[in-house]
Amino acid sequence: MKLIVVKDYEEMSCRAARIIAAQVLKKSDSVLGLATGSTPIGTYRCLIEFYRKKLLDFRTIKTVNLDEYHGLSQTHPQSFRFFMEENFFQHVNLRTSNIHMPEGKAVDPEQETVRYGKLIDSLGGIDLQMLGIGLNGHIGFNEPDDTFSRTVTCVELTQSTIEAYSRFFENTDDVPRRAYTMGIATIMQAKELLLLASGAEKREIIQQAVYGPITTRVPASVLQLHPNVTVITDESAGALL
Ligand code: PGA
Repeated sequence: MKLIVVKDYEEMSCRAARIIAAQVLKKSDSVLGLATGSTPIGTYRCLIEFYRKKLLDFRTIKTVNLDEYHGLSQTHPQSFRFFMEENFFQHVNLRTSNIHMPEGKAVDPEQETVRYGKLIDSLGGIDLQMLGIGLNGHIGFNEPDDTFSRTVTCVELTQSTIEAYSRFFENTDDVPRRAYTMGIATIMQAKELLLLASGAEKREIIQQAVYGPITTRVPASVLQLHPNVTVITDESAGALL
């Protein structure tokens, strides 16, 4: 793992955006794996800035997102699709047909997991996957468990994740109980991974992910086995690295 600890959130975001920008420049039909949450917002801001300065062209770039809530439509303000539109998609020249996410409102969740998994395969896999980390060590919505999920699944969210995400909803009861997520195998198949963390509350979990035992109880710890991972944190999150 390559560890980069920088001063603050802004610097973390710009370092991450530069790595993604390099990928876009290197391969104009790259498959970028994208993430939602508070962590990547600054990275998207930097990428939009690069685009506005005409440094980047996303016309032939393809994107796949890590996860999506089960049961929320694309236009629901808390859906990850909505988040992506607001924070990234509508600000750059990505083609809608090149944007891929699990469909929260799919009628048959089982079929949706199969469809999304096959779709990622049909794109030739992911060139660069950006990841945040949950307070419980989850990546995507791969929650601590007795086993690693393999490909795309529809999972039950843990209480800790429901509480962490309740800040975006009016009350905790409104947080969906299930979500689609790329599985650990899907993530591990990406050619390159970028794990971001900021803020003191991520300090212990990022230390466990990077230096702790590889365990299904801290899903991010599996990243230690990937040959091409860059971890970027700010000083607060990286204080124990
Ligand atoms: P956050 O979420 O970026 O909002 O902290 C990360 C995650 O839960 O994966």
